[in-house]
Amino acid sequence: MPENTAGNATPFLTDVATLRERARKHMDAGAVTANYGADPAVVVKVLNEALATEIVCVLRYKRHYFTASGINAQAVAAEFLQHANEEQQHADQIAARIVQLNGEPNLNPEGLTSRSHAEYVEGEDLIDMIKEDLVAERIAIDSYREMINYIGDKDTTTKRMLEGILAMEEEHADDLVGLLEEMDK
Ligand SMILES: [Fe+2]
Ligand SMILES: [Fe+2]
Repeated sequence: MPENTAGNATPFLTDVATLRERARKHMDAGAVTANYGADPAVVVKVLNEALATEIVCVLRYKRHYFTASGINAQAVAAEFLQHANEEQQHADQIAARIVQLNGEPNLNPEGLTSRSHAEYVEGEDLIDMIKEDLVAERIAIDSYREMINYIGDKDTTTKRMLEGILAMEEEHADDLVGLLEEMDK
């Protein structure tokens, strides 16, 4: 048998008895346990702003999808629809995480645009729509990066979720730049 050196290592975990005892207290807090490092109220507030942003992005992309017209409309509309669906997935992920953190997902249409970081702009024509979407994606990228830096390692699950969303917003921005290049604008 190889010598077991694990017992000599510096312990980095709370002992089992304490962990078990803590888990039994405040069970109604669900996933938010004693060593949750962030302030859940702040995280929920920040996530609700992200939720509003995603919903505004769904609505803007849907508007653009249904009203896209012109010579390049088909391919661009398909991209708008795909982005709308992906923003909806982000909204769903964020709402589910808010509930896990014992918060209330704010889906109230009243005040939605002021809670959102990105704006709802209808756009005059196809190029205008793509440019507005690109601006919104760049706003989302900036704000997700800030959220990730704020949360840091205090809540790794939320951080990981936000990192996944950020990567997709970067892809969206890249897709839109590609569309503008193809259209020579
Ligand atoms: Fe999104
Ligand atoms: Fe996006």
